[in-house]
Amino acid sequence: MVTIKDMLNEILPELVELLRPLLSGVRSVIDIGTGSSVTAHFFAKHFPDIEFFTVDIADMRQEKELPFILYNGKSLPFHDKEFTISVLNETLHHTQDPGSVLTEAKRVAEAVYVVEHFPLPGIPTDKLRKDEMSTLEDLSLECSYYKPFTRNSLFDLFDRTNLDVEVKFKMPYHGSREIEKYFFKLVRK
Ligand SMILES: C[S@@+](CC[C@H](N)C(=O)[O-])C[C@H]1O[C@@H](n2cnc3c(N)ncnc32)[C@H](O)[C@@H]1O
Repeated sequence: MVTIKDMLNEILPELVELLRPLLSGVRSVIDIGTGSSVTAHFFAKHFPDIEFFTVDIADMRQEKELPFILYNGKSLPFHDKEFTISVLNETLHHTQDPGSVLTEAKRVAEAVYVVEHFPLPGIPTDKLRKDEMSTLEDLSLECSYYKPFTRNSLFDLFDRTNLDVEVKFKMPYHGSREIEKYFFKLVRK
C-alpha cells in the first residue's frame, strides 16, 4: 500500500526547491490545517533555521515532532503577527468558513501562503468531489467537508478579507485528479 508519506516524499523535494526563494528571511511558520503534518515536517527538516508550529481541528498527524495545537477552527490562540507566515496548504477548501480562517491566518502573521486547486475547465464539481474523497480515503485523512473554489470565488474571498496577491504561480501537480494547483502569497491591502 502506498502511504501518504511515500506519496508526499516523491513530490516534496520539488516543492522545497520551488518555494525556497519565498522562505528566505522567514523566521517562523504556522501551518494551519496540518493534516498528516508530513509536509510541514519535511519543510522543517529542510529549513532548520525556521521555527514551525502546527494547528488543526482534528489530530491526524503521522509525524509529531513539531509543536501542535488542537483548536476550535475559529480563533487561533496566538498574538497578532506572531509568525512571519501562515500557511494554508490545501486547507481552505476543507473549512466550513474559509473567510474566518483566512482572517485569522492574516491576523497572526505578516503574510499568508495559500495553496489551492481549481477544477480543469469543463470538469463538474461532483466529479472533483468524488476524486477528492477517494484521494483522502487512500491517504487515511478524515475531512468530510469539501467545497472547491472557482477562480472567481477564491479571488472574491481574498478581496473580502482585504488581502492582495503579491505572488502567484501554477504549481506542479503529478496526480490523476482533473485539477490545477496554484500558490499565492497574500499580504494586507
Ligand atoms: C487536505 S488536509 C490539509 C493537508 C495539509 N495542510 C498538508 O500540507 O498536507 C485539510 C485539513 O484542513 C483541516 N481543517 C478543516 N477545517 C479547519 C479549520 N477551520 N481550521 C484549520 N484546519 C481545518 C482538516 O482537519 C484537515 O486536516
